[in-house]
Amino acid sequence: MQTAHSIEEMKHLRSKCRGSVGFVPTMGYLHEGHLELVSQAKNENYVAVVSIFVNPTQFAPHEDFKAYPRDLDRDLTLLESAGTDIVFIPGDKDMYPADYDTWVEVKGITRHLEGRSRPTHFQGVTTVCSKLFNIVEPNKAYFGQKDAQQALVIQKMVADLNMNLEVIVAPTIREKDGLAMSSRNVYLTPEERKSAPVLYKALQLARDMHAKGESDAILIKNAMTKLISSVPAARIDYISIADIGTLQEVNDIRGRVLVSLAVKLGKPRLVDNIILG
Ligand code: PAJ
Repeated sequence: MQTAHSIEEMKHLRSKCRGSVGFVPTMGYLHEGHLELVSQAKNENYVAVVSIFVNPTQFAPHEDFKAYPRDLDRDLTLLESAGTDIVFIPGDKDMYPADYDTWVEVKGITRHLEGRSRPTHFQGVTTVCSKLFNIVEPNKAYFGQKDAQQALVIQKMVADLNMNLEVIVAPTIREKDGLAMSSRNVYLTPEERKSAPVLYKALQLARDMHAKGESDAILIKNAMTKLISSVPAARIDYISIADIGTLQEVNDIRGRVLVSLAVKLGKPRLVDNIILG
């Protein structure tokens, strides 16, 4: 495994790659969810590149950029055993020098869900991913369904800007009790960790109600809200049933819909989703 600590080094290593390159962008503090993406990238390409960069521009000033968990030594060990060929670990000033002034913005679908709660978030994500794609020049880039809106936004950006790569979206990896794996789960106290599977239980409730023929989205969202509210520490940010293409809320579930939610449980804000139909 080779490591590149600067953009220049990464470009140099890229110039020596032969065959297709699979790329997994991450913010580190890796878990099984990330490592599944790396395995898939390795299986489907000659070279697997992983980036670790806690991207400051996708955090709002009041969010957890400084407190975001970091453990580079552990990440490198995990990446080595997952068969990673190149790890790209750029510095903040390398990615965003003092005179940095260019932003990539997807409109439309970024106005809903995460974008509504975190208005500057996706501009940071699309800008950093554009930069990473230009530096790494991957043939395929791998994203997790766990961040469903992020995956859709990246797919839209790649299509709209005619970027020369394929975006692959891989299933959400969960703990045994259903909690979606996330770097932010370490912030949960033991008590909060015990209640955290309620997010996935609420999604399963939606799936069950829909399977039994319920198509009223409001009724399903009310049932989900009631279930999550049974956990006193839970603060619901949103519960949404939206069209999978436009991410606009639907009242009547007909085609494919994204059922998603964001819930603050103590310190961390957790997100999860499933697709119905
Ligand atoms: P990060 O949260 O580190 O996630 C990196 C990738 O891993 C994302 O595509 C995310 O959806 C995926 N992932 C996280 N948890 C997962 C799980 N439980 N199952 C499957 N995939 C999972 O998302 C980001 O970083 C950043 O926004 C980034 C794209 C790197 C841009 O800065």
